[in-house]
Amino acid sequence: MSESLDLTAAKRPVHGGARPDQLRAGILDFSASINPYAPPPGLRRVLAAADVKNYPDPATGRLTALLASAHNLGPEQVLVGNGASELVFLIARALLRPGSRVVVVGPAFGEYAYASALAGAEVTTYLAPEAAGFVPDTAELVRLLGRSRPAVIWAANPANPTGVYLPSDPFEAILEACGGILVLDEAFRSFVDGPWPSEVLLGTGRVILLRSLTKDFGLAGLRLGYLLGPPELVNLVRAHQPPWSVNALAQAAGEFVLTRPGFLETCRARVARRRRELREALRRLGLEVSDGAANFLLVRTGMASACAQFLLEERRILVRDCTSFGLPDHIRVAVRRRPENRRLAAALAEWVRRRPGP
Ligand SMILES: Cc1ncc(COP(=O)(O)O)c(C=O)c1O
Repeated sequence: MSESLDLTAAKRPVHGGARPDQLRAGILDFSASINPYAPPPGLRRVLAAADVKNYPDPATGRLTALLASAHNLGPEQVLVGNGASELVFLIARALLRPGSRVVVVGPAFGEYAYASALAGAEVTTYLAPEAAGFVPDTAELVRLLGRSRPAVIWAANPANPTGVYLPSDPFEAILEACGGILVLDEAFRSFVDGPWPSEVLLGTGRVILLRSLTKDFGLAGLRLGYLLGPPELVNLVRAHQPPWSVNALAQAAGEFVLTRPGFLETCRARVARRRRELREALRRLGLEVSDGAANFLLVRTGMASACAQFLLEERRILVRDCTSFGLPDHIRVAVRRRPENRRLAAALAEWVRRRPGP
């Protein structure tokens, strides 16, 4: 359950996302989960007009005001970052000291543990059981939190790579079980049908919500994310952020995408249809597929690394081998547009026919 990280470059967390040379070579990337209908039309014009000669607003004032009003919060409760990932590192630096304890609700995005360990914290990972569909056992988690009394608890909702989306109760139980700060990463929340209003947790004064605009609006190359939290915590995290961290192009893009009414909602509905179709197509192949709520699916293919290698070398499709999440029999696949999803399903049908027997 407990893990200590080797902080050499080789041990940096593994991510999805094709390399530029793979993209140039026409590899179809199912390994990074980005809104397949993004970015919104008109973005290129906005980028071309952005002022790159002068320093960007270090306070990201206009974007912060837009986000604050979208969430009905004050601007002092919002911090914009260079992707949600920058904010993960800033939170760890601001809230942790050598010897602080941290609990990660896993399987999870590797950067929580890595950033915490860089800050000198002792990291314990709770792994949600596969037998329960990767839904955490709240009672077991609460016992662990009671024992380890962490300063910070990292959790994602929906979780990556399982896609499990939890109601508010487990998070309320986590907050009751210990006095630590809960960082709830909602990078994939925009793809959930009818999500609950997590902003209510901000009232506890011990919750930070993380959001990613890079996935929502297809800005992964620009980098844009934000957090919501109580003013004191937001200030503390802000104090660690380098000036001009959010560049002029990202700020202009953010201001543009947040004023496209209905764009995200239309994408969410389309992605939900594609997710259902892809899940059904893969289940028809006899594959176990998660009931995930996000814009990706966790698929039990057996021998994930061999499956990923087959798909890449023989079908020019890149998927996320989940071995580094501790799931060597699973791959994670993004939900893309219909013709691409069909190509993936056909390739996986071939894998099912060809894979070595048990
Ligand atoms: C759960 C989770 N949070 C955050 C991120 C990073 O988001 P961003 O691209 O905004 O830095 C990722 C990226 O894959 C992720 O999976």
